[in-house]
Amino acid sequence: MTHTHVAGSIHADSAARAPSWLRLPSDVNALLQSLWSTGIRKDESGVLTVAGLDVIEIADRVGTPVYVVDEADLRARARAFADAFQGWDVYYAAKSFLCTTVARWVSEEGLGIDVCTGGELAVVQRAGLDLRRVGLHGNNKSVEELWYALSAGVGRIIIDSFDEITKLGQIAEELQIRPRVMVRATTGVEAHTHEYIATAHEDQKFGFSIASGSAADALVACYQQPALELIGIHSHIGSQIFDTEGFQVAARRTLRLHADFAAQTGVELNELDLGGGFGIAYTSADTPSTPAALARSLREIIANECSALGVAVPHLSIEPGRAISGPSTFALYSVGTVKPVALDGGASRLYVAVDGGMSDNIRTALYAAEYSATLASRRSAAPPVLARVVGKHCEGGDILVRDEFLPADIAAGDLLAVPGSGAYSRSMASNYNYVPRPPVIAIRDGQITTLLRRETIEDLLRLDAG
Ligand SMILES: Cc1ncc(COP(=O)(O)O)c(C=O)c1O
Repeated sequence: MTHTHVAGSIHADSAARAPSWLRLPSDVNALLQSLWSTGIRKDESGVLTVAGLDVIEIADRVGTPVYVVDEADLRARARAFADAFQGWDVYYAAKSFLCTTVARWVSEEGLGIDVCTGGELAVVQRAGLDLRRVGLHGNNKSVEELWYALSAGVGRIIIDSFDEITKLGQIAEELQIRPRVMVRATTGVEAHTHEYIATAHEDQKFGFSIASGSAADALVACYQQPALELIGIHSHIGSQIFDTEGFQVAARRTLRLHADFAAQTGVELNELDLGGGFGIAYTSADTPSTPAALARSLREIIANECSALGVAVPHLSIEPGRAISGPSTFALYSVGTVKPVALDGGASRLYVAVDGGMSDNIRTALYAAEYSATLASRRSAAPPVLARVVGKHCEGGDILVRDEFLPADIAAGDLLAVPGSGAYSRSMASNYNYVPRPPVIAIRDGQITTLLRRETIEDLLRLDAG
């Protein structure tokens, strides 16, 4: 791929090192609006503003790094799912990002919540929500977690193993509570971004395989356990999915299981959950769907599959996480050092090191996720150069944004913003290198609310028993 650029041959060579999806921007200051929350703008001096507040003020008042949530945007995304999927239940996948305030927001917008540990459940309970609208997942729930979920009155438990059926049955008998349960079926469909594979057998830790017959056995085992109320089947096929082909294959396979169970027992189960995984735009290469378009396709798929099998359409649910929390939030960093690194053939790459890194966003290092970034604190007249945004950790793979064009004059003290940082960033954050985790703040009408405060070195030292 060859690019010509006003900055000359070195810049052109560097641009040639960019991945094919990354376009050389005609204006390096411009925002690609589809990557950002609806409340984001750049003012005339190039400063990023969110819901009326500029990032220079945010950095002055809160410091960096910080995750900045556009409250109206997150709420609107939750509401859009509730509206588009009317008649279905929409559970917000808390693993993407959870704190008490966000749990309350999504609940106010009409959503239930899917949790997968006792810790996530405790947050939702502290938020004061109706736990009948909460589902508990997990491939290895402990006795304590199951006990907690049942006594707290969780609305449904998604069963993931035969051990769990036995364990949950015993706890239910002891507590004299009959929990509503779903069986998590593994459909053999694995979907990521634009691709999916549909195989006959599954090689992963979640769920019961349909192909091997263990999903059918698990349904019968739950059905025959009088302490459990079997309500339906659950399937989750992957993440960052942009089309509905994978959902179609998964729906066909789970509904076939549903129909076979009805034929065997005379009972048509009431519910089917299609999981989450709806994709968002991290870069210009991503083309996400809308909740309305997804709802149209999924309704049609289910109606067609049910009619082909001659079964009634069950009550449906989905579990979007990233599509609600992801685009609402950007991470704001301060640039600390800038280093041009020579590449083969005379090209160079600008390494821009910021005051965070893999401890506040592991996704790039963990699964080669792609992100974008923009200079957030000023307008630059310099040409775009191929850059890599890296963190401060002692790890060569400590990369936040693998490939992005940034202004050639980016320098220490500049602020840099990374969109799409709301999902699986703070929730997967660590303290690697004893780096405290950044705060999460929400902006609404120019006002800051702290959702999670900044961790301190003292917080970390308090754990040290020595
Ligand atoms: C069972 C289940 N439901 C929902 C989700 C949410 O996925 P996403 O955030 O991609 O929508 C996940 C994510 O791993 C999941 O495992």
